[in-house]
Amino acid sequence: MATDHHKRIILFPLPFQGHINPMLQLANILHAHGTFKITIVHTEYNSPPNQSNYPHFTFKSIKDNFSEIVNQLAWNPDSSFYLKHLNTSCVDPFRECLAGLLRETDKEPVACVITDAGFYFTQAVADELKIPRMVLRTSCLGCVLAYTRLPFHSKMDCFKLTKEDSQYESSVEEYPIMKYKDIAKITINPQGTGDFVGNMLNEMKASSGIIWNTFKELEESQLDTISLDFKVPNFTLGPFHKYFPASSSSLIQQDRTILSWLDTQPPKSTIYVSFGSLANITESEFQEVAHALFKIGLPFLWVVRPGMVRGSEWIESLPERFLERVGDRGRIVKWSPQQEVLAHPATGCFWTHCGWNSTLESICEGIPMICSPYFVDQPINARYVSDVWKIGVYLEDGLERVGIETAIKTVMMSKEGEMMRERITSLKEKLNNSLLDGGSSHQSLINLVDYISTL
Ligand code: UDX
Repeated sequence: MATDHHKRIILFPLPFQGHINPMLQLANILHAHGTFKITIVHTEYNSPPNQSNYPHFTFKSIKDNFSEIVNQLAWNPDSSFYLKHLNTSCVDPFRECLAGLLRETDKEPVACVITDAGFYFTQAVADELKIPRMVLRTSCLGCVLAYTRLPFHSKMDCFKLTKEDSQYESSVEEYPIMKYKDIAKITINPQGTGDFVGNMLNEMKASSGIIWNTFKELEESQLDTISLDFKVPNFTLGPFHKYFPASSSSLIQQDRTILSWLDTQPPKSTIYVSFGSLANITESEFQEVAHALFKIGLPFLWVVRPGMVRGSEWIESLPERFLERVGDRGRIVKWSPQQEVLAHPATGCFWTHCGWNSTLESICEGIPMICSPYFVDQPINARYVSDVWKIGVYLEDGLERVGIETAIKTVMMSKEGEMMRERITSLKEKLNNSLLDGGSSHQSLINLVDYISTL
């Protein structure tokens, strides 16, 4: 596969942890397996850390004015607000940067740009500068399929149902694996999210091809449907992070001391709890989690990002004497080396917000999940985990101690939990096979490298 192409690829991630990680992983894959030269264009906001770990890449920063928006305004729970802003404020700086890179005659010719699907404005810029644009979509296929079907504009009220509404527990007609209670979590602004999703899907269709961080055996039927809806080449070569040792694009310092603590825990005994890089919870939800972890009596490793609990700096709102009473049975850290934690023999279950990277990382290590999704794609991923792949329990009704304890017991101590573990172990095997010579992801990577070489 590794022929010397002497071509350059320019990649442009969305500036969030769950998007930076897979984009840098993809860049590494294309560099190692396609011998492409790599330039990463990135915003000043959340610029990729540890750039010295990537001496083989060139990094170019563009001004985005995003920090001012994030810092000046109170936190806005409507993610479409931020995404719209990025798609407006980055247009001129990105165009200027890309035009400059294309003018560099002393460098290798540029084969294409690969941008995050969420940066939909980049299609028009690429067209204007006559350079092919490919897209990296960092979610699963099922999420995009759901986005193509859900009535963001036509039935906005469906996204606002509450427990009191009779339809709340029912399936959504347009995408029946989802319930109305799930889509109420996707967004508080169906109009804004619908606009964003519409733009993103249109520009994915207009692109030269779509790269997905998933593998065929996990989403075979979704891939068939997507291939009909998106008539551009689709490449499923995930999971990206399995091509290399643990990634090093973490925006927060990972606390590695907990790995030696995990070494002291019995096999499959420990609950790993992390709600990703963006989700935040109320003080009372935080206390419910703490009560349940205390009561259940199992070892736990809990990631609490500073600022994750609304109104708190870090863990001040823990119940009185919590850490003292838990003792050596539990650890709370600000950020973990998650892929290594999931691969550790002591880890028995992953209580996750179901960000796509976390979900995929859990499948890679055969760890069944408890799902507490917050927004955008997470409620869709949670439904696939619990109802389609049947490899986890969905805490559908939020963070409340009795429900949490039941979910933990189901995953860690019941026959049903054992069956989930068997199913996810079988998926893990399929995934490993997909990466071997002749496997589906491996073949898709060969196809992608060949395709880019012809652009
Ligand atoms: C966001 C959205 O929430 C998610 O739904 C979407 O799919 C991608 O963007 P995020 O909240 O960051 O993602 O979650 P996720 O996609 O799971 O990515 C988090 C990444 O951070 C993972 O790669 C995980 O390994 C890493 N991580 C997480 C750590 O390295 N340490 C931690 O303590 C927690």
